[in-house]
Amino acid sequence: MVYKSLMTTRILTGITTSGTPHLGNYAGAIRPAIAASLKPDTESFYFLADLHSLIKTADPARVQRSTLEIAASWLAAGLNPDKVWFYRQSDIPQIPELTWFLTCVASKGLLNRAHAYKAAVDINHAKQEDEDAGITAGLFMYPVLMAADIIVFNAHKVPVGRDQVQHIEMARDFAARFNHAYGDHLVLPEAVIEESVATLPGLDGRKMSKSYDNTIPLFAGKAELKKLIAGIVTDSRLPGESKDADNSHLYTLYQAFSSAEKAAGFRQALIDGLSWGEAKQALFETIDSEVAPMREKYEALMAKPEVIEQQLQAGGEKARAIAAPLMKELRHAVGLRNLAEKSSSDKKVAVKKALPTIKQYRERDGKFYFKLLSANGDLLYQSAAFDTPKEAGECIAELKVGSNTTRNINILSSTTAGSNMQEIMDAFNELHAAEAEKK
Ligand code: TRP
Repeated sequence: MVYKSLMTTRILTGITTSGTPHLGNYAGAIRPAIAASLKPDTESFYFLADLHSLIKTADPARVQRSTLEIAASWLAAGLNPDKVWFYRQSDIPQIPELTWFLTCVASKGLLNRAHAYKAAVDINHAKQEDEDAGITAGLFMYPVLMAADIIVFNAHKVPVGRDQVQHIEMARDFAARFNHAYGDHLVLPEAVIEESVATLPGLDGRKMSKSYDNTIPLFAGKAELKKLIAGIVTDSRLPGESKDADNSHLYTLYQAFSSAEKAAGFRQALIDGLSWGEAKQALFETIDSEVAPMREKYEALMAKPEVIEQQLQAGGEKARAIAAPLMKELRHAVGLRNLAEKSSSDKKVAVKKALPTIKQYRERDGKFYFKLLSANGDLLYQSAAFDTPKEAGECIAELKVGSNTTRNINILSSTTAGSNMQEIMDAFNELHAAEAEKK
């Protein structure tokens, strides 16, 4: 059965373990995710996508280090592992297993169109190389692994950046194909695009990102944080000169770490001629006041990797408790079964059963009629006249759902054609049931 709780929404997101979290990750992903995990009626799944990281790097020490740093960052930032599912992807063997099931229904043509793969092909074209030069099957299959991450927990919502929306669409497609082939087992996930979430500028003013090498690590030491902030680009306006606050990266960063009132004060001070040096000092203090308590926790956690390891082991167990029953169901659905078992529960190739039919028509008198024929074509019922086709249609609809309106009772009791009322009602019921099934 598809997991369907009437009340709770399952939210799931993965963090690729191939770097050190920076302020942009914190404001854009970690902080809002932790806030969302506290909402009632939600179940949050946050995991370290270490299998994904193997696509990006072949440096084992880096994978291990990054997994540790990211886990420590989320915990230090206040993620409560008792309230959420916090685990490492590679601890859930059901994920690679489901990846294969989905691979077998995924259309290769759809994967050809994945942005990340297409971008790699375009680079090869530009270099006049073979179009798949240097591209691993891992990169190509990335969207299927990501779909399995989501689907193995039957998650409903996946908060992502715009660049990931296509992957969620693909996950929906794979899940729908699977359901079509094997019955209704999987939830079709939806992307949630977080428009309101801050995108922070990096040291050079472009979006803070590993790929631009312009990041401020979330847990840089105080002195390093101060030094990095001092290096953020500004224009050359002098102390006392009015600054263009709204286009200043310092102001954008400041807003992400302060109340609206404090930020308004900072903005005004810039307009009134605050020097860039003083502005950077104020920004440093603001960021540091939010980060410092977390930094202390982070350092304590990093000093005890065995504590984090234990948390993740416990998280893995909790997550497997959900993934394992679904996978068991799916194995059965696809036919990986105990050989002694009778295969009676399979979706039969539907033998189309002949149904009664209704024919609507107009007579020479200008009035509208319908008649009900049995599956064999025998006339069961011939209606009285209606002034409009709409009225005839309404009457048919009511008869199908068995409404005992006076009109219907009159119609049926004044019946006709040698058939009895029960037969007629049964035929209408059959039509109704067949329609309901189609929906
Ligand atoms: N691909 C995502 C990224 O690069 C990380 C990720 C892996 C993920 N599996 C996921 C995100 C499942 C959401 C859901 O950011």
